[in-house]
Amino acid sequence: MIKTKMTELLGIQYPILMGAMAWITTAGLTAAVSNAGGAGVLGAGGRDEEWVRREIRKTKTLTDKPFGINLSLQTTPLRDKLVEAILAEGIDFVTLGAGDPRPFLPRFREAGIKTICIVPNTKLAKRMEACGADMLVIEGMESGGRIGNLTTMALMTNILPEVSLPVAAAGGIVDGRGLAAALIMGADGVQMGSRFLLASECGSHPSNAQAIVAASDTDSVTIGWSRGKGLRGLKNPFAEEYLSMEVSGVPTETLGQYVNGCSKRVADLGTGEDGKNGIVQVGESLEPLKKIQPAAEIIREVMEEAETLLKRAPRFVTE
Ligand SMILES: Cc1cc2nc3c(=O)[nH]c(=O)nc-3n(C[C@H](O)[C@H](O)[C@H](O)COP(=O)(O)O)c2cc1C
Repeated sequence: MIKTKMTELLGIQYPILMGAMAWITTAGLTAAVSNAGGAGVLGAGGRDEEWVRREIRKTKTLTDKPFGINLSLQTTPLRDKLVEAILAEGIDFVTLGAGDPRPFLPRFREAGIKTICIVPNTKLAKRMEACGADMLVIEGMESGGRIGNLTTMALMTNILPEVSLPVAAAGGIVDGRGLAAALIMGADGVQMGSRFLLASECGSHPSNAQAIVAASDTDSVTIGWSRGKGLRGLKNPFAEEYLSMEVSGVPTETLGQYVNGCSKRVADLGTGEDGKNGIVQVGESLEPLKKIQPAAEIIREVMEEAETLLKRAPRFVTE
């Protein structure tokens, strides 16, 4: 049994938060993770308010355990409609990234919805604590998908001594070793995205899980650094084309158009025969990702491994 400030805050059995994944973490996977004792998170990225309402309702029919929804807070006309839909439907917590969450925290709090801010550095972590967030996710560049430029280890080292909120570490954590290490560093739990791409309940196109299983750590690539929008995934013809455009100085807007819509395409259709639909977004910790299995089994394995390692840890210390 591992109890932390995070399990207490969220009312969950295990300190494992599922990383929201746009176009991928829908009701089935979210409920499966929550039913297994972790915290499932719907990914609202790219969706409209109708989808948000429907998916929250559907998830409630599949689980009576706590679950959340992830919202990207870039200023778009849709953003405010999504916030209203979440407030109207009710949910246990929101994870908030890509934008300034401060204007929204009071409204979620008044509605009894806990707020988890995803941060890429110490300055933002302290700012989010000061303005009343309930919890933080510190997300390192080992993560799949959109990334910042600090590693998970550096974020844990820099941020954990500076804040007293519950913190989940994310980025490159795919097993019980990662969870045990994060807890020893002082985190209260972890957020995992990539490992759940291999959950049998995952709705992403099956060829994506196969590509992950076949991949080695040297297949991890980041595109988009030149326009400040790092995106990590598996090297393929789409990524190679992007990288050659980046080095040949193609305008930022052209690069933006090239990647536009690729997350949805890959989630729905895979990368395509010629690997030109987009990249399979996944983190750097690829070697252990070899098995497609139910979410409940993933959580059980991660917890068993972490508990075993934590129980063995005192052997390193001698009087
Ligand atoms: C395919 C994919 C899509 C993602 N989409 C989102 C998203 O929509 N919103 C978000 O906050 N994080 C997103 N992430 C990041 C995850 O929520 C999580 O923080 C990350 O996967 C953790 O690192 P890991 O991949 O090494 O487990 C995505 C990650 C992946 C792999």
